[in-house]
Amino acid sequence: MSYLTEFDEREYLTIFYSASDGSQEEKGFALFHLKQVIQFYKKYNSKWNNSTARLLEFGGGPSIAGLISAVPHVNEIIFSAHTEGERKEVELWKFEKDGAHDWSDHFKFAVNELENITGDAAWQDRENFLRQHITAIIGCDILQDYPLSIKPDPFEIISTSLCLEVACSTYLEYKAAVKKLVTLLKPGGFLTMFVVERQTFYMVGKKRWSCLYLTLEQVKEALADAGMVVLVAECDPAPMNQIQNPTVSDYKAVLFVAAQRVEF
Ligand SMILES: C[S@@+](CC[C@H](N)C(=O)[O-])C[C@H]1O[C@@H](n2cnc3c(N)ncnc32)[C@H](O)[C@@H]1O
Repeated sequence: MSYLTEFDEREYLTIFYSASDGSQEEKGFALFHLKQVIQFYKKYNSKWNNSTARLLEFGGGPSIAGLISAVPHVNEIIFSAHTEGERKEVELWKFEKDGAHDWSDHFKFAVNELENITGDAAWQDRENFLRQHITAIIGCDILQDYPLSIKPDPFEIISTSLCLEVACSTYLEYKAAVKKLVTLLKPGGFLTMFVVERQTFYMVGKKRWSCLYLTLEQVKEALADAGMVVLVAECDPAPMNQIQNPTVSDYKAVLFVAAQRVEF
């Protein structure tokens, strides 16, 4: 099955990024995801110049969730997604077109609750700020020698989420993929990754997508081999009922790993 022709980005958004009913369990992944991003930027944002830094979102699919708390710390975001449908989905949201996915709950949760900046104006301003700071929406394919559809200057930061492990079918391919991303970074630049650990499949509706089974140790090894120093490695274990009854996916944990390219 090919992502280019078979991936239903709308269904993916509905299943994984719909407005939640507010319960902690429903907010599980969003909580881990948004919190890790906030903590990373709080700790490391003095390492680059916020007024000039550029961020690449690699394989973002139809989701802008990981950028909500990143955007105040950079000057520009290049958003890349593998399929045309995914790029269209992000364009709909950026240009406030009818039918765009509603991300307001994620903005409220990140800005009002986790960043603790109160008021509707705060999350609405952030939404507009992100719309303005995504300056290009481009294609990507990590399996190509050069993985972007244009050749931008190297980046201070690259973020990627749940992408390389679904695109690659062997660990060797995964290691090569990590290296390709690292070459898009400036020396001293940062890579942040959300990775599903020990997952072999996930479902989007009735379609079953395969995933490379990876451990945290393998992710760390791939980064070290690519010339990266691992700074953060956090793990959010899957709920036990999910592990015992793997219907939507058989992941065992979500990892957040941040690393810095050595300077030379
Ligand atoms: C599970 S989704 C993750 C989407 C998004 N990053 C997120 O965190 O929700 C997997 C993504 O990997 C992308 N993908 C699949 N093959 C790819 C490839 N060869 N190069 C880049 N991205 C790919 C898909 O298009 C899809 O958006």
